[in-house]
Amino acid sequence: MSLPPPTTDAPLVARLRADLDQAAYTVEAVDQMLGPLASAALAREQVLPAQRATADVGTPLATLVRLFILGDAVDAEDASTALPTLGITGAQGLGLVREQGPGVVATCDLRPYADDLHAWWVASDLSEVATRQPLHENHVLGLGGASTTLASWTPRPHVDRALDLGTGCGVQALHLGAHADHVTVTDISERALGYARFNAALNDCEWSFAQGSMLDPIAGQRFGLIVSNPPFVITPRTPDVPVFEYRDAGGSGDEAVSGLVRSIGEHLEPGGIAQFLGNWEVVGDSDWRDRVSGWVASTGLDAWVVQREVQDPAQYAETWARDGGHHSATTEFAMMYAAWLDDFASRGATGVGFGVITLQRPVGEREPFIDLEEAQGPVASPMGPSVLAGLRARTWLAEHTDEELLAVAWRCADDVTEERFSRPGAQDPAVIQLRQGGGLRRVVRLDTVGAALVSICDGTLAAGPALDAIAELLDEPADGVRGKGLELLRRLVADGLVVPPSAGNSP
Ligand SMILES: C[S@@+](CC[C@H](N)C(=O)[O-])C[C@H]1O[C@@H](n2cnc3c(N)ncnc32)[C@H](O)[C@@H]1O
Repeated sequence: MSLPPPTTDAPLVARLRADLDQAAYTVEAVDQMLGPLASAALAREQVLPAQRATADVGTPLATLVRLFILGDAVDAEDASTALPTLGITGAQGLGLVREQGPGVVATCDLRPYADDLHAWWVASDLSEVATRQPLHENHVLGLGGASTTLASWTPRPHVDRALDLGTGCGVQALHLGAHADHVTVTDISERALGYARFNAALNDCEWSFAQGSMLDPIAGQRFGLIVSNPPFVITPRTPDVPVFEYRDAGGSGDEAVSGLVRSIGEHLEPGGIAQFLGNWEVVGDSDWRDRVSGWVASTGLDAWVVQREVQDPAQYAETWARDGGHHSATTEFAMMYAAWLDDFASRGATGVGFGVITLQRPVGEREPFIDLEEAQGPVASPMGPSVLAGLRARTWLAEHTDEELLAVAWRCADDVTEERFSRPGAQDPAVIQLRQGGGLRRVVRLDTVGAALVSICDGTLAAGPALDAIAELLDEPADGVRGKGLELLRRLVADGLVVPPSAGNSP
């Protein structure tokens, strides 16, 4: 049976905060204490090295890690030393620990979390690693790969009102608080909202809370930024597969994500941005872009979608059958595996894409842009600044004509380098390409016109006259060279490889 989330008794929360501060319960300190081997093993959901690294340390920091991250029982005396002002009674009062034999065990996970500028603590349900049991269907997710991916990719302009839809323990909302005047969080799960309330209190944040399904709780409201790591997992509707609240919003196939994309527009202010993670099915031998552009087509929103990964139905089934805590040798796992394969087959799905969806409501009347691309390798971290720059660049392109584009004296962005490769002994390069150091770390192959254009992108000569000079030099028709140059320039501007002469990294 699931335990209730921690309570938000203000004096007790203040004592907990003081104790965590005093123990220096920070990401950095925990990493340092565990060392690289145990930290890396823990990231792979293996606790043993961390248990060995903390067993005999005896400091409050080590006790907090053993109690709240590893799920180990700790001596009552050690727990009292680690929580000197809260004490065990206070920790029980908050619903963080319970007695077990001569010691105590945690009833929730509580760990430090940080970005480059901020540090927080986040409580959530104990992970499978700590309980050594499959998860409950109403499990409240803690920090994980998807939540940190969304946090990394979220553009962070200053906004008046921001929304975290499906907040879970509130991790996205913690980030939003740094650049939004008002933060609203929603979730269908009262338990999740309980954790979010506790984390808001612990981190001294003020959010508005609303319970309900998807967009129901925000009827009539608009936001400058909406983020969601939604329950996007495609799940077979058979009794063999549990309905985990944290990953599954019901419905068939990728309906949850498509529904969100199709209907989010009315909740965005003009210029407002929505940032989601999602899965989409690839049916037969169709292109994923056809499916996702179909979701966006009638919304009137700008869309920039980056597909990061594709799994075949078997890989997807293995991932999600395992995710709830079931191991591959069990009967439950085999039944779930079969259910996933049947479900995908029933819709002719041959693959599942995973990616990041960025939507924007245009400020005025204009044709929205739709840019769907693939980027599977490592990217900048955080990606948010590049996403914001990419949105600004695409918006500029959507609002300006080819002539206006050609009138700008573009320059190569500071993180771009040129690579030339030659056949052994050859005078001329066989391959010339640009490499982007940040953002999506694009590599762009250049033809002769492209290489010539980029070589004079130093912010002094407008692209139009530059292309005319290149046409003359190559003895090619000016229109053809302008056409080629324009196509390349649009791509390079959108991806931030070239920028205007005086701006930062976007037009
Ligand atoms: C993948 S978790 C994301 C949690 C957190 N925002 C993060 O980034 O880690 C999805 C969340 O959506 C919630 N949820 C599930 N079904 C929902 C629905 N129909 N409407 C709103 N939220 C829902 C779950 O309770 C869960 O907290």
